[in-house]
Amino acid sequence: MCGIVAYIGKKEAYPIIIKGLQRLEYRGYDSAGIALLDNGELNVYKKQGKVSMLSNYAETQNTKGNSGIGHTRWATHGLPNDVNSHPHTSTNGDISVIHNGIIENYAPIKAELISRGYTFQSETDTEVLVHLIDDALKQEKVNLSEAVRLALQNVVGAYAIVVISKDYPNQLVAARKSSPLVVGIGSEGDFYLASDATPIIEYTKQVVYLNDEEIAIVDLNEGLKIINIANQEKTAYVQELEMHLEALEKGGYEHFMLKEIHEQPRSIRDCFRGRLNVEEGWVALGGIKDYEQKLLNAQRLIMIACGTSWHACLVGEYLIEDLARINVEVEYASEFRYRNPIINENDIVIALSQSGETADTMAALTLAKSKGATILGICNVVGSSISRITDAGSYTHAGPEIGVASTKAFTAQVTVLTLLALRLAYKKGTITRKKFQSIIQELDAIPEKVQRILEKDKMIEEIAAVYKDSKNALYLGRGSSFPVALEGALKLKEISYIHAEGYPAAEMKHGPIALIDEEIPVFVIATKGTSYEKVVSNIQEVKARKGKIIAIVTEGDTQVKEIADHVIEIPDTDENLVPLLATIPLQLLSYHISVMRGCNVDQPRNLAKSVTVE
Ligand code: F6R
Repeated sequence: MCGIVAYIGKKEAYPIIIKGLQRLEYRGYDSAGIALLDNGELNVYKKQGKVSMLSNYAETQNTKGNSGIGHTRWATHGLPNDVNSHPHTSTNGDISVIHNGIIENYAPIKAELISRGYTFQSETDTEVLVHLIDDALKQEKVNLSEAVRLALQNVVGAYAIVVISKDYPNQLVAARKSSPLVVGIGSEGDFYLASDATPIIEYTKQVVYLNDEEIAIVDLNEGLKIINIANQEKTAYVQELEMHLEALEKGGYEHFMLKEIHEQPRSIRDCFRGRLNVEEGWVALGGIKDYEQKLLNAQRLIMIACGTSWHACLVGEYLIEDLARINVEVEYASEFRYRNPIINENDIVIALSQSGETADTMAALTLAKSKGATILGICNVVGSSISRITDAGSYTHAGPEIGVASTKAFTAQVTVLTLLALRLAYKKGTITRKKFQSIIQELDAIPEKVQRILEKDKMIEEIAAVYKDSKNALYLGRGSSFPVALEGALKLKEISYIHAEGYPAAEMKHGPIALIDEEIPVFVIATKGTSYEKVVSNIQEVKARKGKIIAIVTEGDTQVKEIADHVIEIPDTDENLVPLLATIPLQLLSYHISVMRGCNVDQPRNLAKSVTVE
C-alpha cells in the first residue's frame, strides 16, 4: 500500500509534505515522489527508495511553493523505480496525480487511451488516471473537479488520489474509494490531505474523513466542498482528533502486529480482488496464466518456503491435493537445497515468501532453475528478488507487513493458494460445478467472517490472561488445521518466548502426551468437519490427564463446549477454508500473551523481518 500527503495554503508545502511522507513510510518505501506548484511551474521530483533519497535529491532543486502533493510507494504494478514512482503527470506537464490503491481495469483503459494517441511513461495502473483527467478536461471542457469526477466514473478498483494542476493554483482535488483519505482543516484557511492523520496532527486537529466515492475540493477562496461521484453535494463532518502522534503511526493500534491482525478482512479481500467473481462463477490468477497448462499437466508440484510461509505451503498441499488432485510435496527451502533433490524440467517449484528476499528460498529456487524446473513465486513484496527470478507468479497484495511476526501475509498466502487450488480443480474438472460455486461464495464471505472473529478480541484477551505464565504449550489440529496448529505454536514462541509445539492431533499419543499435566495449555482446532469426532477423542485424552483445553470450535458447537476449559467460536465455513478463520484467534492469543509478558511484540528478540542470510 502507499502513503499520500498534500498541502495547500500560505506555508511552504515542501517541509510539510516531506515530513508527512516520513511518517507514512510504514505504508511503503519502494519509492517516493513530490510535485510542487511554484509561480505557475509544476516541479516533479521522484526517487526510487526511501523518502530520505527523495529529500536528498529534491533539496538540490527548487522546493518552493505553497501547494504540493507527495507519495511514498509500495509497488503493485510495475517495478519500484524512478519512472514508476508517483506523482504521474499529464503529457503536457500541467496535471499531476498521486494514488493509493489498485485500478483493476487499467489495462483496457490504457489500450483505449493509447489508441487515441496518449503515450505512457510508466508500467503503473495509476498513469491511466492522469490521462483520463486530462482527456476529460480537453474533450468535455469542464473544470478540474468535474474532470476528476468524470475520470473516476471509468475506473474499477480502489483509490485514494490527490490531483494538482497548474491551471488551478488555488485548488487540490482529492477522492477516495476503499483506500483511506483524511482532510485536515488548518487554522489559516489552509488544507492538508493524507492517507491517515499522522502527517496532519501537528498542524491541526480538525479533520474530515472522506467516505467511499466522495470527492473533496479544497480551494483557498471557497474552502472545502465535498461531492460524490454522482455529483451530489455532501456534508463535511469535521471531527476532532484525539490520538497521539505515536499511536497514529500505527493507525491507532498499540503495535503494528495488532494493526496487521485487524487489517485481515481488508487484506484478504485485496488478495482476491479481481481474481474471483461469484456472480459469473470464475477464479483466475492472471500472473501465472502462461503456466496454467503446465500446472494442469504436472505430475507433482514442489512447494518451498521457510517459517510461516512454509506453514502456508502445507495448507496449500491439503487444498491442491484435495480439490485439484495434484500431488504436492512441501519442502523447507533450507533442507531442499542441501539434499541433492531429484528435480527435472517437468517439475514445477513454487516458492512462497512474504518478503521475497529470504536467502534459503532464493537459493532453493536457483537450484531448481539450474535443473530446468519451472519456478513460480507467491510473494507479498512487489519487485523483490524472488518475484524477479521466478518465471511467473502471483502477488499476495497484503500491504506492507511491519510487525516481524507474520499475520496478514500468512492469510493472504493461504488465499492465493486457495484460488490456485480452485482454478486448477475447475480446469481439471476434479470438483463439481456446484462445489466450486459454493466454495467461491464462501471465500467471498471470509473477510466478513474474519471481522466477526476480531470482534471477540476482548474475550480472547481474557483467555490469554489465564495462560500468560505458562512455560509450555501444545497446539493440535488435523487435516488443514494441522498447519494452523504449527502456525499458532510459532506465533506464540516467537513473540512471547513460551516454548510451544504444534502437532497433528492424533500424533500426540506417540510422544507429546507425556508433556500433559495440569499446567499445560493445549490449543485445539476442533471445528466441524471430517475429523471432528476424532479430534473430540483427542481432547478427551488431554482432559483425562488434567491438561487445559482451549478449543477453536464452529459457532453453535455443544459437544466440545462441555469438555473444554475455554472455547472460541468461529463462523461456519467450507472445511477447506477453515485455516483462514481458525488462524485469527491464535494470532490474537499470542499477541495478548506477549503484551502481558512485557515482550517486544513488533520486534521480537533475535529475529528480523527479512531473513537474507542462510
Ligand atoms: C514468522 C515469520 C517467519 C517468516 C520466514 C519466511 O512469523 O514471519 O517465519 O515466515 O522468515 O519469510 P518470508 O515469508 O519473507 O520468506
